This record gives sequence, structure tokens and C-alpha cells, in this order.
Amino acid sequence: MWTTLDRGYWGVSCLSLLASVVCGAQSANEPSNMSYVKATVDKLLKGYDIRLRPDFGGAPVDVGMSIDIASIDMVSEVNMDYTITMYFQQSWRDKRLSYTGIPLNLTLDNRVADSLWVPDTYFINDKKSFVHGVTVKNRMIRLHPDGTVLYGLRITTTAACMMDLRRYPLDEQNCTLEIESYGYTTDDIEFYWQGGSNAGSVTGVENIELPQFDIIDYQTLSKKAVFATGSYPRLSLSFKLKRNIGYFILQTYMPSTLITILSWVSFWINYDASAARVALGITTVLTMTTINTHLRETLPKIPYVKAIDIYLMGCFVFVFLALLEYAFVNYIFFGRGPHLQKKVAEKAAKSNNENKSRLESNKVQVDAHGNILLTNLTSEMSGADMMGVLNDPRATMFSYDSASIQYRKPMASRDLYGRPAIDRPMGHKKGRLRRRASQLKVKIPDLTDVNAIDKWSRVIFPIAFTFFNLVYWLYYVN
Ligand SMILES: *[C@@H]1O[C@H](CO)[C@@H](O)[C@H](O)[C@H]1NC(C)=O
Ligand SMILES: *[C@@H]1O[C@H](CO)[C@@H](O)[C@H](O)[C@H]1NC(C)=O
Ligand SMILES: *[C@@H]1O[C@H](CO)[C@@H](O)[C@H](O)[C@H]1NC(C)=O
Repeated sequence: MWTTLDRGYWGVSCLSLLASVVCGAQSANEPSNMSYVKATVDKLLKGYDIRLRPDFGGAPVDVGMSIDIASIDMVSEVNMDYTITMYFQQSWRDKRLSYTGIPLNLTLDNRVADSLWVPDTYFINDKKSFVHGVTVKNRMIRLHPDGTVLYGLRITTTAACMMDLRRYPLDEQNCTLEIESYGYTTDDIEFYWQGGSNAGSVTGVENIELPQFDIIDYQTLSKKAVFATGSYPRLSLSFKLKRNIGYFILQTYMPSTLITILSWVSFWINYDASAARVALGITTVLTMTTINTHLRETLPKIPYVKAIDIYLMGCFVFVFLALLEYAFVNYIFFGRGPHLQKKVAEKAAKSNNENKSRLESNKVQVDAHGNILLTNLTSEMSGADMMGVLNDPRATMFSYDSASIQYRKPMASRDLYGRPAIDRPMGHKKGRLRRRASQLKVKIPDLTDVNAIDKWSRVIFPIAFTFFNLVYWLYYVN
């Protein structure tokens, strides 16, 4: 392009010299001089043999490559590939295309590329690529006076990227784009990165925004690939992609951690509330299964174990053990034979007698685990007495335990041994029934065991889970 200065200078000389012929001769971009450019281009293409590479029979053509990345559109674990849109530029020197007389770079219509020799470059690891075609084929051909040709294409390519997902989602992937000449060996053609091998020939990486990855590094390499048919020039561009863990923290780690913690709630629920505890256990197990299934949909069916699998499996095991713990507690509580129950009942009766004296002082008996001794309450206290204690603001301890009496009530009604239900302990009318029920209550096996299991679980489960997390994160984050 002519600069304004040039034009001004020539305008002045035209006026002073009145030599308009000379002026026109230098103004190649004026419409009047199009014929000259046309003649030049005609001359270049006339007799041009597209079948022969530049310097045929001589030194190999050096083809410089540069890539300007427009975007990386997708990285897919399922297909093990990524999609990249880029401006791919190659430049080489074709002496047949050098021209003189026009101090301009000639950017020609893209269709001219069909009648010029271009390198047979291809991407080794591409699965599907295309040159954009709207509104015309996105192709550029620019000739320089010395015969250098710049050939640009806007390409979207989906390139294979073999990913090792062992550390997924705490992984880093190395995805490459391999560029090679399809037919010409190194005897005919050489490739090089135009900006030097130090990644100067790749631009636009800083502007790439990927939803799930950060590009932490990229490299360019050039090497030779040796095949049976010869050795071929090859360039490779590699990106190091680091996955953002944030999405997975929110989507998978947090929910599974919370579900695991939720399963421990069971240890604080009374052992005889089987409906509540079984439901809680089953729900947490099923939720873990759902999280696991949901995650699996976005991943290929790889045979090895991923980091996230280990975490989910760990959570699943904890949730499952919490359910088993209740199965065990339930077995200890209800599943004891009548023989053992009898023995336990005798023991309880003995302790009951010992407690009688203390009961007379109108105090509520509470065992070591905060369970009120129903025997004493129901057989020795009238309902009115109890209400009196309940209304006493000082008897906070008792109010607390009266709640547990009410809570335990349904247990008695669905007792395995068909014993009659205890009605409201304060009821006046069912005194006899109450007394009988309270005697049966005594026969209920030693609760200490069951409580101890829950008590230990409350400590052991959180500690074990914390330890599991510690080991997991220390191992995978480093
Ligand atoms: C165009 O430029 C060429 C070379 O500079 C010159 O010979 C020719 O006369 C010019 N043609 C016109 C129409 O000005
Ligand atoms: C032609 O292209 C070369 C290389 O890209 C550049 O250095 C030069 O300034 C260009 N010439 C004009 C007249 O634009
Ligand atoms: C990707 O892997 C290739 C081959 O193992 C290696 O040469 C290249 O340096 C790696 N790329 C990055 C950015 O680390």
C-alpha cells in the first residue's frame, strides 16, 4: 500500500515536472494502472506448473508455520479429543512467483490458491477437520515481491488427545496437534516454526477460556517422523491442560461428603426407631449410587479406577457401614434369644430393687446412658406425681427424659413378642396395664451394649472419614 507521504511526494513532483506519465507509472494502486498488476499476475501464473514444488530437484522448500488460536471449543473425555479453531498460516518461498515493478504485497483471491503449489500439510491426530466456508472459503493467499507466499486458512479441527484419567478430576492432560507433510519427505520439504521453536509462533493462547481447564503451558516441537516410505517433517504443538476442580467440588465431592455425614445422624437416633434409621441408611446409600451413576455418564468406559471413583467408593463404604451398623444394633437389640433375655431381665430386676430406696426420695432414676428407668416411674409414681415433676421448672433433666419415654412408646407397641403397648405413662386408667408393661420393659435386654455401639460409632466414623479425606487429598493434590 502506498503511504500518504509517497502520494504527496509524487503529487508535488507531477506538478513541478508536469510529467504525468511518470506519476501514473508509480501509482500501481490507481484503477488506471490495474492493467499492469493484471499483467504481472498473468505473467506469474502463465506457465506455472502446479505439479512441481518450488526449487524442484534442488534444496527442500522450507515451510514456516504459525498458528493463531481463536478458541479451544471443547475437550471431551468421552471421545478423548478436543476441538480447536485456529488461523493456520504457512509460508514458503516460490521463486517462480517473484515479481518486480510493484512494491506491494499482492493479496489475491482465495481461488488463486487452487492454481498454485501449496504444501500437502495434514494433522496426524485429527478426527474431523474443516476449513470454514462462510461466506467464502476462509483462505488467504498473499504474494510478496521476493516470491514468498503466505497461505492462511481458518480451520476447526477435532484432534485426538489420549487422556490418562487415573487422577481424574485432579488430572492434567497433554493434548497435542501434530502437523506433518503427507507426501513430501524431508528431501523435498522442511517444516519449521516461524517464530522460533520457543512457542513464539503460537499466539492467542492467553485469550483462551475453557470452562473446565486452564492452559498452564504450551510447547512447540519439530522432529522427523520415519516411516517405511521415508522420513517426514513433523511439527507438534502441545498444550498442558489442568482441570479446574471447582466444578467437581460442588458437583460431586461436597454432596458425597455431606451424604456421608448425613448417614451418621443415624447414630444419634434411638436404636429402636428402626423406621427412621433404616430409611436414613437406605436413602444415603441410594443417593451415593445416584451420584456415582451421574458421574459415569460423562466419562468413557475406562477399565481403571479414577481418583473420583476412590472418593465415591470411600463414601459409599462409609454410608454402607453406617447402615450395617444399624443392622448390627438391631440384631443385638431384638434378635437375642429368650434365654438371654431372661438372664438380663433378672439382672435388671435386681438393680431395680437396689434403686427402690433412691426412688422413694421422689427422684427420677436415670441410668448411665440417660435412659430413664421406666420401671420406677410407672410402678411407683402416680400420674399426678409425674405431672408435678414435669411442671417443676427445676426438673429439666426429667423433662428431657420424659421426651424419650414418649419417643420410645411406639417401640413397645410393635414389640416382637406381641406384648401389649404401653400407653401414656401418666394415664390414670390403665394403671394395671402400665404396671405389666413396665415389668416387661425390665425384660428388655441390657441396653448398655446397643448404646455402646452407637456411642463408639459416633466417634469412630467421623475420625475414620477424616483420616480417609486426609490421606486422599494429600495423595492426589501432590
Ligand atoms: C502502470 O504502471 C506501469 C509501471 O509502473 C507503467 O508502465 C504503466 O504505464 C502504468 N499504466 C497506467 C495506465 O498508468
Ligand atoms: C509485505 O509483507 C512483508 C512481510 O509480511 C512486510 O514486512 C511488508 O511491510 C509488506 N509490504 C507492504 C508494502 O505492505
Ligand atoms: C506433552 O507430551 C510430549 C510428549 O510426551 C512432550 O514432549 C511435551 O513437552 C508435553 N507438553 C507439555 C506442554 O508439557
